[in-house]
Amino acid sequence: MSSQPAPRFPWNLIASRRYRWATGASIFTVVVFFFTLRNFELFTQRGPLFHTTVDVDWSRFAYTQYVTNSEYLCNSVMFFEALHRLSSRADRVMMYPSRMLESDDDRSSDARLLIKARDEFQVKLVPITVQHRNNADATWADSFTKLLAFNQTQYSRVLSIDSDSILLQDMDELFLLPPAPVAMPRAYWLYPDKEILSSQVVLIQPSEVEFARIMDRVNSASNDDYDMEIVNYLYRNNALVLPHRPYDILTGEFRGDNHTKYLGSDVEAWDPAAVYNEAKLVHFSDWPLPKPWLPTPDDLRLKSQPKYFKKKRKEVCN
Ligand SMILES: *[C@@H]1O[C@H](CO)[C@@H](O)[C@H](O)[C@H]1NC(C)=O
Ligand SMILES: *[C@@H]1O[C@H](CO)[C@@H](O)[C@H](O)[C@H]1NC(C)=O
Repeated sequence: MSSQPAPRFPWNLIASRRYRWATGASIFTVVVFFFTLRNFELFTQRGPLFHTTVDVDWSRFAYTQYVTNSEYLCNSVMFFEALHRLSSRADRVMMYPSRMLESDDDRSSDARLLIKARDEFQVKLVPITVQHRNNADATWADSFTKLLAFNQTQYSRVLSIDSDSILLQDMDELFLLPPAPVAMPRAYWLYPDKEILSSQVVLIQPSEVEFARIMDRVNSASNDDYDMEIVNYLYRNNALVLPHRPYDILTGEFRGDNHTKYLGSDVEAWDPAAVYNEAKLVHFSDWPLPKPWLPTPDDLRLKSQPKYFKKKRKEVCN
């Protein structure tokens, strides 16, 4: 048996009162420092209050958009630029009509935008056939194309977001939600009169089985059925409902004068700057005004623009 004495802590060094006091004070300072740092991080974050510490394989997840024409292609490139600028970690997938990019030598403006998205913003280009229905209203005739996101089975989850929108913050945290065939916010502007899920933002678990169900529904769709009706028909009772705040706000909200539906109660005061800072996605929807890239008659714009009103001698823009 070895009889070497164990190394001993030099207690005699801190035995004097002065040293004991100094050691206690240093330990206290270190503890307070780390505690403050932790809390500082918790309270200064703009995003979610917690972060997962498990390793996440972000290549299993993708944001998807579908493009049916040149206007939507332009919107979609701006959307993916935002994801790139915000350093989102998931993949980026753009489903585009295969005719738009015949080869890398293609000099059309569509092809140039597609190549820019691919090379500058790391977008994976997936050629598709636009799902057009002649019976449908022109605005929505191609909207079934969105449902091809259910067919992107190379991913375990995709987040389909309409491209007629502006992305202000990334939504990476949604990919880590508990499993559900789809997760969507409600169309808050219709609630509670109508409990409809809005297909502007849909988190999807792509699957062959679900895609087959979707295509069955598309093929038997009536004249008034678009992508939103189909998703509601199939998933209204088993979707995970996302809060519309902060994932979906309409541009029209900012010029309305009753915000109860968006705020969710009549207790909270409307603060447009705070709402804008909270929002992650602003969707261009401003009925009766058309989408912003379409010409708007002047009289309609003047009639619809936010009202000025006087409030306590101060001019306030609503
Ligand atoms: C669905 O995905 C498969 C496999 O990638 C592909 O062969 C098929 O054409 C896709 N279906 C549609 C309607 O795009
Ligand atoms: C605002 O809208 C809510 C819900 O639609 C309604 O209950 C409320 O009466 C409205 N408030 C005003 C001031 O019109």
